[in-house]
Amino acid sequence: MPEVNVASLAAQPYATLEGLRGACPVARAVGPDGAPFWLVTRYADVAAGLADPDLSLDRRNATPGQYHGLSLPPALDANLLNMDAPDHTRVRALAARAFTAQRVEALRPSIQQAADELIRGFAARGEADLVADYAAPLPILIISQILGVPAPDRSDFRLWTDAILAASADPAAAKAAMVQLTGFLGRLVADKRTSPGADLLSDLVQARDENGSLSEEELTSLAFLLLFAGYENSVHLIGSSILALLDHPDEMKRLLAQPELLEGAIEELARYDGPAPLAIRRFPTRDVEIGGTRIGAGETVMLSLAAANRDPARFPEPDRLDLQRSTGGHVALGRGAHYCLGAPLARLELQIAVDTVVRGLPGLRLSVPRDDVRFRPSIRTRGLTALPVAFDAGDGRQPQLQEGRQ
Ligand code: HEM
Repeated sequence: MPEVNVASLAAQPYATLEGLRGACPVARAVGPDGAPFWLVTRYADVAAGLADPDLSLDRRNATPGQYHGLSLPPALDANLLNMDAPDHTRVRALAARAFTAQRVEALRPSIQQAADELIRGFAARGEADLVADYAAPLPILIISQILGVPAPDRSDFRLWTDAILAASADPAAAKAAMVQLTGFLGRLVADKRTSPGADLLSDLVQARDENGSLSEEELTSLAFLLLFAGYENSVHLIGSSILALLDHPDEMKRLLAQPELLEGAIEELARYDGPAPLAIRRFPTRDVEIGGTRIGAGETVMLSLAAANRDPARFPEPDRLDLQRSTGGHVALGRGAHYCLGAPLARLELQIAVDTVVRGLPGLRLSVPRDDVRFRPSIRTRGLTALPVAFDAGDGRQPQLQEGRQ
């Protein structure tokens, strides 16, 4: 069986995945650390794998030498993406209350206000890097507000997260960032213990201290995952979505003319170029068969969400961005027991972020040649390093909404 070329998977993910899906839909691959895994690329196999309780996320079910993904210290590692039921069910239920559709909808005004303020901060300049100036600060602000991270600590958090994500490029910097982040979360939990606020982390500390429903490591790991997942995927999806619209001016015009398309449009943007090309690694708890290939218990299985979302057997003409297509069943946010806990927040943030940019920055265009717009060279994460744009300088207000707001 031919082995997957991981370098081309990082450099040209969609072409590589298409080739694999046709020739070898369950393929052998070797991760950046030299450890092997199976890569699954057909929609039907990926969707079934995501919902299969025999595919464990608990690293203790892995045989030694298999690809494990990020190695984290214990205070960050006891998180939902490393757990199976019943522990997973118990911990998830504690955080889930904060992310119901109703609780998230109540955040709409503050997310809109944050997006408006960011745009106004650079609207007069006529140019910006929409990753650094907009897509990154917006989700950090929102998840920090939900969890109760004080404003002065938010920029440090972004530096640490970025260093951890670039672990394969600079392992020493990633390790140092993990130590700092662990210390920071420990101090934050201690602060919430002595002076609780009206935030999710204070609620979780209370759940731990009063009902014993969480261990201390589960508490810090949950805080870490919410911060990390709430930031990493959102910043990348906002950036890629704006780029996809710039690449498809007719679709951008359609969205401007028909605001009612927004809800469906963001589902298509997530399907088309989502930030998580691979689900978290999974380990079969018994020998299994996926797409006709036998996989032994404890071997690493990587389900490709990007390949599934571009499978023509599920989405006709999958490489075409079509904001009006039916996207039902896309797996950009996962599926099954580990389905994205923050999905309602992710959707609302993306709706507001995209809508505010396309309406608030008239004449929006790239300010560098298209070939100079780069994605991070990673198989785990699909995200832009920068998105340099130009636009007609103004005050950043959305023309259609100005009257209603004044
Ligand atoms: C914006 C785009 C986002 C995307 C595309 C995304 C995608 C995903 C995916 C694919 C998974 C499942 C991983 C797997 O099963 O292997 C997941 C899980 C998760 N996401 Fe998101 N996510 C996003 C935003 C968020 C936000 C804003 C938060 C929250 C604050 C969040 C919190 C989580 C958590 C806690 C889990 C683990 C759930 C569990 O294991 O039960 N995500 N996400």
